[in-house]
Amino acid sequence: MLDDIERVLLTQEEIKEKVKELGEKISKDYKGKNLLLVSVLKGSIVFMADIMRSITEHCRIDFMAVSSYGSSTKTSGVVKILKDLDIPLEGYDVLIIEDILDSGMTLDYIKKLLKGRNPASIKICTLLDKPARRKVDIKADYLGFSIPDEFVVGYGLDYAEKYRNLPFIGVLKPQIYN
Ligand code: IMP
Ligand code: MG
Repeated sequence: MLDDIERVLLTQEEIKEKVKELGEKISKDYKGKNLLLVSVLKGSIVFMADIMRSITEHCRIDFMAVSSYGSSTKTSGVVKILKDLDIPLEGYDVLIIEDILDSGMTLDYIKKLLKGRNPASIKICTLLDKPARRKVDIKADYLGFSIPDEFVVGYGLDYAEKYRNLPFIGVLKPQIYN
């Protein structure tokens, strides 16, 4: 598996430090609020597991699964709900936890969908952002790292459902997907 990685983009230590920082900010901003973390499966599971433990205020969690990619590295533009949330959103301050904001189509779709369910508020927290590839006007309210336009894997992010278990974020060798 390690042989398929061209280089490490973000080390475990860098990610850990950033998650701590984000958790402190979120804890402060959501003090006294009714926080519900919504993790978008599967890419955000590792980030979700870490960020929820860096939040020092009460929060609830829920999960939804969508598909937009298949095994290709470019977005199809089609978002399909594979698993919906269990919790009705009314009255909750929803914070969507995502692995990466790329074209933005997935998060744009999810945010609009969830907004329609009347949450008290709705914001986005994403670990990674590739601003160069944005197709719709959407911004993260909490962002870990802006990264260059390269295909990355690890820390939950996959290529063809593999590499999610890498503890760091690395650039995949292009010959793996070309
Ligand atoms: P968007 O709709 O183009 O913003 O795509 C967001 C989704 O695409 C993320 O949740 C990821 O699953 C996937 N994705 C985008 N870029 C990468 C990448 O570099 N590595 C792995 N997955 C990616
Ligand atoms: Mg994904």
